[in-house]
Amino acid sequence: MNTYDCLVLGGGPGGYLAAERAAQRGMSVAVLEERAFGGVCLNEGCIPTKTLLHSAKMYRHATQSEAFGVTVEGMVHFSLPRAMERKRRVVQTLVGGVENTLKHAGVEMVRARGTVLGRGTDGLFQVAAGDEQYVGKRLIVASGSHAAVPPITGVREGLARGFVKTNCEILEMESLPRDLVVIGGGVIGLEMACFFAAVGVKVTVIEMLDQIAGNTDAEIASVLQRTYEAQGMTFCLGASVQRVENGAVVYQKDGKETTVPCDMVLLSTGRRPNTQDIGLESINVQTQRGAIVTDLQLCTNVSGVFAVGDCNGKSMLAHTAYREAEVAVNHMCGEKDIINYDSVPAVIYTDPEVACVGMTLQEAKRRGYAAREVKVPMQYAGRYVAEVDNGKGFCKLVMDETSHRLLGVHMIGSYVSEMIYGAAMMVDTQLPPSRLQKLTFPHPTVSEVLREALFAL
Ligand code: NAI
Repeated sequence: MNTYDCLVLGGGPGGYLAAERAAQRGMSVAVLEERAFGGVCLNEGCIPTKTLLHSAKMYRHATQSEAFGVTVEGMVHFSLPRAMERKRRVVQTLVGGVENTLKHAGVEMVRARGTVLGRGTDGLFQVAAGDEQYVGKRLIVASGSHAAVPPITGVREGLARGFVKTNCEILEMESLPRDLVVIGGGVIGLEMACFFAAVGVKVTVIEMLDQIAGNTDAEIASVLQRTYEAQGMTFCLGASVQRVENGAVVYQKDGKETTVPCDMVLLSTGRRPNTQDIGLESINVQTQRGAIVTDLQLCTNVSGVFAVGDCNGKSMLAHTAYREAEVAVNHMCGEKDIINYDSVPAVIYTDPEVACVGMTLQEAKRRGYAAREVKVPMQYAGRYVAEVDNGKGFCKLVMDETSHRLLGVHMIGSYVSEMIYGAAMMVDTQLPPSRLQKLTFPHPTVSEVLREALFAL
């Protein structure tokens, strides 16, 4: 029996960073992971998708570069096997990096599924993994999430046949479909739709809400949709999928049934926290709609037990998990720290990119703020004009008239994924716009649109 200061259940972004940080603070730590270290993010999420999206972007640049004075003699080809091979190497490198980091931090990496057995009279948590038992003074649950499978007729059969794929299987496909139907126009659906459309696949997105991209600013969602429609993508919004057949998806809209023939279906209808069958009930950890209930220090209802990342269902983003991991470890070490979910940025890696932080105008008003917004086109930034023809990008700032602080920043355009951390800092620090206007932005960069927007306030 091995006793540790801290046991971590799950080796994804939340788990591996919590383990590393706890070890750096002098704790003895074991992290239990049944699959690959790096979790969904590194193995079947953020990193592999961004690698493929980059290949698709290069292909698109090569095929659409004439306006920039670049022409290609002969055909430009996209090779899925080579893009996949590169993706595998990238994933391997980064997973290796995580394992090395944990090793150097002195964390014991256990490659087995951990199940909580209970809490002894000594107050220690007992966890079974493989043939071993591990005992911990504290427990960090970082068990992640899995793709939701809605009760649509034919979906389970389609998954079993390989006709329907989730984010996981689609990243292992061996050939491109000709016609792809994406069920669910959220983040995963849109990023994958962007990849497939860029390499010539005919894509139809079926979304049950009236807008794509969930709670994203409605105008941004609309620009993104129109951009993709202009490239030939079809969106069926406010549509309810009736069934998945052999070679087609049938949806209903306004009482009318439509059949969309396809040779592959991506199911991207959200994710659910992994909280079943890991023994949480043995120590009475409270869950709500399948997610572990946590406070702003990531404490659960059981003292000594923390839950970070997707399993608490708060924001389901890898970078939220990182920050939650640090807050949890800081709290364990007696350091005052809380997470501010209102300043966590969100990015959709489509082309153009979308990046947002904080509240939209609609949300701010709903929460009772005397809010107003300004909108500035990306054309105000010289570099954007230099690089993008007829770009529709823009930046919106949402401000509270009462406190004169920024509540949100919402952008669509190039490089916004790289700019949003600066905006997140503006929202998080709550510095007044009059102070933020004094920052010097490098010229020429697209980031200058933020400066323009601050002055437009
Ligand atoms: P999501 O929650 O973003 O979107 C799911 C969409 O499916 C919603 O718009 C919903 O209305 C729709 N939907 C649900 N059931 C449906 C049905 N039966 N028919 C039609 N539409 C239906 O979930 P998604 O895209 O699966 O992503 C999962 C998680 O992964 C999210 O929490 C997301 O934040 C995270 N993620 C983040 C990324 C990023 O930060 N760039 C990239 C990929 C995923």
